[in-house]
Amino acid sequence: MADLTTNFAGIKSPNPFWLASGPPTNTGYQVMNAFRAGWGGAVWKTLGVPIANVSSRYGAVSYKNNRIMGFNNIELITDRSLEVNIREMKEVKEKFPNHAVIASLMFETKEEWHDCIKKCEDVGVDGFELNFGCPHGMCERGMGSAVGQNPDVCEKITSWVMEKATKPVIVKLTPNITDITKAALAAQRGGANAVSLINTINSVTGIDLDRMEPRPIVDGLSTHGGYCGPAVKPIALNMVSEISNHPDFKLPISGIGGIETWQDAAEFILMGATSLQICTAVMHYGFKIVIELKEGLSNYLDSKEVKSITELSGKAARKVKKWEQLDLNYKVIAKINSDKCIGCQLCYIACEDGAHQSIAINPDSRIPIILKDKCVGCNLCSLVCPVEECITMTKIETGKGKLFWADHPANPINQKATASR
Ligand SMILES: Cc1cc2nc3c(=O)[nH]c(=O)nc-3n(C[C@H](O)[C@H](O)[C@H](O)COP(=O)(O)O)c2cc1C
Ligand code: SF4
Ligand code: SF4
Repeated sequence: MADLTTNFAGIKSPNPFWLASGPPTNTGYQVMNAFRAGWGGAVWKTLGVPIANVSSRYGAVSYKNNRIMGFNNIELITDRSLEVNIREMKEVKEKFPNHAVIASLMFETKEEWHDCIKKCEDVGVDGFELNFGCPHGMCERGMGSAVGQNPDVCEKITSWVMEKATKPVIVKLTPNITDITKAALAAQRGGANAVSLINTINSVTGIDLDRMEPRPIVDGLSTHGGYCGPAVKPIALNMVSEISNHPDFKLPISGIGGIETWQDAAEFILMGATSLQICTAVMHYGFKIVIELKEGLSNYLDSKEVKSITELSGKAARKVKKWEQLDLNYKVIAKINSDKCIGCQLCYIACEDGAHQSIAINPDSRIPIILKDKCVGCNLCSLVCPVEECITMTKIETGKGKLFWADHPANPINQKATASR
């Protein structure tokens, strides 16, 4: 059976599933319940300068039957005192010495950072996460994403922390940036031991059409919040792969953003993560989701005959290339399995109106016909088809060798070369 025990940048935990910093890690009571349920670690709700919270503070995007496809919050860091949080961290560590307790921190001055690091280390935390990602409220005070968006500041504050911390330090990055690798490299230059991503994405989740007020509503007004949950997973996966593929980046990555199932977790690992953090799915379904997460991931590793997640880490990320490195002569076309087709004709409508007019109505049956010579292999019909595996994309032998954009006749560089001959 695969070994799920984790050593992430020196932080040991029974498995790679950690609660991300947020409401599920508000209190020692919750973190202990989570550890009892099977979580490997917890990143405590961010400790820092004094704040006050508004009400209401959450919003969600529902899609069809899913009440929370995307989640949004305008909550700040912990609104409990530092003393209470530190005391509860100590209690958790005493009761669960083999689980990972990571203190998430956000401060303004070097002295404040150093003071809190000392207090946390005194009660035995296993590591730190620097919150350089919170996109609302705190950034207006020069913290959170204001740090993560400025590589020089990110490097400087990381180096302040490294002067004092004796435990591993993870820098948590903001996705609200054009090039996430710049912030990751800045954290590395500052001496960080790891990075985690993503924090939440700037967003307004919706408008109350009767009141004409954006949500979440605070006395008739609102503010942009941080988006997370299943909707953000594709953005997070891309950013994790960008960092993991960067030739100069050498640190471990903790993957966060929309993880809900073991499949999501496996995807983050394949894109380069070696630990996983989850917030929204726990807020939605509770701590017990970890049972299926662990079992599913362990079975997946067994099915792939690998002993640990580090063996899998990054395997798919290496296959994320620049567009110009893809073979233009590789060709697939759609194929309908007539035994599975229910004749709904959604594929016909999609291809006819939204793609390449490559599906014809069949005069003799409800099963449409793929026009092989016209099909460009875009995938749309297979994506709209409601029956699993009914439309598959099949490879066509073109008899042509590989062709990349650099050599393609339509490339302006090649056209110029031809013209000058
Ligand atoms: C209500 C709420 C509060 C959060 N508070 C914090 C926080 O205090 N510190 C922090 O680093 N991240 C915070 N986050 C961000 C999460 O840790 C995580 O990065 C983000 O939600 C993406 O993961 P998810 O899709 O699993 O929720 C918060 C998220 C939510 C939903
Ligand atoms: S969408 Fe799928 S099920 Fe519907 S007609 Fe097309 S192939 Fe058949
Ligand atoms: S793959 Fe694209 S072009 Fe081909 S039949 Fe389907 S929708 Fe049409």
